[in-house]
Formats: sequence, C-alpha cells, structure tokens
Amino acid sequence: MVVFPNCKINLGLHITGKRADGYHELETVFYPVQLKDVLEVVHATAGEQAHITFTSSGLPIPGDTANNLCTIAYQLLKKDFPGLPSIRMHLHKIIPMGAGLGGGSADGAFALKLLNEKFQLGLNTAQLIHYAALLGSDCPFFILNQPCYGTGRGEILTPVQLDLSDYRFVLIHPGIHVSTKWAFEQLTPAKAPRPITDILQQPIAEWKQELLNDFEFPILKAYPEIAAIKQALYSDGALYAGMSGSGSTVFGIYAADQPVGIQHKTSHPCHIV
Ligand code: C5P
Repeated sequence: MVVFPNCKINLGLHITGKRADGYHELETVFYPVQLKDVLEVVHATAGEQAHITFTSSGLPIPGDTANNLCTIAYQLLKKDFPGLPSIRMHLHKIIPMGAGLGGGSADGAFALKLLNEKFQLGLNTAQLIHYAALLGSDCPFFILNQPCYGTGRGEILTPVQLDLSDYRFVLIHPGIHVSTKWAFEQLTPAKAPRPITDILQQPIAEWKQELLNDFEFPILKAYPEIAAIKQALYSDGALYAGMSGSGSTVFGIYAADQPVGIQHKTSHPCHIV
C-alpha cells in the first residue's frame, strides 16, 4: 500500500504561553500544501527477523532510522497491537527536512493511517490523533489534513473554512537548519493581537499587514538571507509571503493566473504547487 504524505504551511503563528512541561502554547492555522513524499508498506518476507525494515530514497535523511517518525509510529502501534505483522517500509523523501513544512510529522502521521488501514486495526480519528500527538506536536494535524486552527502544543485542532485552491504556493527552502527548540527559546510569549481566523477572512492581499509568525522576528534577524527571500517573493508579485513554522522555508501565495518568476532568480530549491 502506498500513501503520499503532504506538507503544511502555517498561516500566522503566535506563541501565547510557556508550560510547566517545557512546551509552548501557540495558536496558528495549519494549511495542507500538496508537495508530497511517497510512503510504502509491504509485508516482510518470510524469515526476516526485524519487525520493521525501513529504507529511504530521495533526499538523504539524517540520523538513525530507529528515530524516524515512521519507525516510531510502527513501534507505538506494535506495543498496543502485538499481532501487527512484520513489515518493510520505504520512504521516498521529497519534502525538505527541518524546514518548517512538517514533512517528518506528515510521514509519521501517514504511517499511522496507513498501518491502521492496511492491517484493519479499527482506530478511529480521535484514537489516531492520540497516537499522532505522542509522535510530535505537528503530527495530529496530518491525521485530519484539512485547514485547521491549532492551539495547545498545536495538537488541539478545529477545522476552519478556508479554500485556497484558486492559488499557487511557492516554497523556497534556503537550506538553513533551524532548531525548533532554539527557535522557541528565542520568543517571549504574548497574547495574540487579533485572532488569526479573523485576519484570514480578509482578502489575501490584506494579510501582509496583520498575519504574523512570531518566529520571523528572531529568525529573520539571525538569518538575513531568509528575510531577503521573503522580500524577493513580494517583489515577484506574491500576494502574501511568510516563513512557515520555525523555518527556514519561506512561502509565497500567488493567484493561479499570476506569473511566477522567482524560480529563475534564486539559487535555492524552489517548489511551485
Ligand atoms: O513536539 P515536537 O517533538 O515537534 O517538538 C520539538 C521541540 O520543540 C520540543 O522539544 C520543544 O522544545 C519545542 N516545542 C515547544 N512548544 C511546542 C512545540 C514544540 O516548545 N508547542
């Protein structure tokens, strides 16, 4: 069975508090974007010892395969469903990593959904969200995978009406790895000036004034190259441009009939979807 985990962008992001467990309270709107990895699961062949054999292709994945969220997703389910068969899992990686696009989180969440379906575990959406929250703060969103207002660590989700299917997304990844933990440490929590969901009801060309990602302040200051990409997207005609999550990907939103020229002016990987 093959699934295609997609990425997300954050439309606005405010850090509103720090919790006793070290996590931060936030508010954001997650929006699914159709830049996708490919994830396949097949039964292990007879005689294979390991419960899970994980392989990958495409972008190189740093770190031990045992720490990959797909592997952890399998192990989480195996604990509660000891009868889960041994598998081979292959991930073809296209979504840049450590980029604020939630690619790793998507892979983990899609692995849960895939295993649930392939092996008929009977988990409902709430149960899948529970497992996803154990994998990481951004993972529950990918269980629903529709535009959502996220609060708490990002795992408390309320679907919102927001249809950007008439627009194109340009994603530019400058290859700078921003540590999520470091990025959170740079911020002083504050009350959001205006609810993000109110701002998103205005025409996109008006979002520029008010739709803010708190991470942009410290990160664009620390990495002027990221600020330059955002400016270049606006100069190219993007209706809105911003950094996703804790970066370093910057996205631009263009009307579907608008020409996009930035891919010819940047040396960084650029995806148009
Ligand atoms: O949940 P996840 O593993 O993606 O989080 C990575 C790190 O980011 C956490 O260890 C924490 O330092 C930080 N974080 C946070 N508040 C959140 C989400 C993540 O402080 N809401």
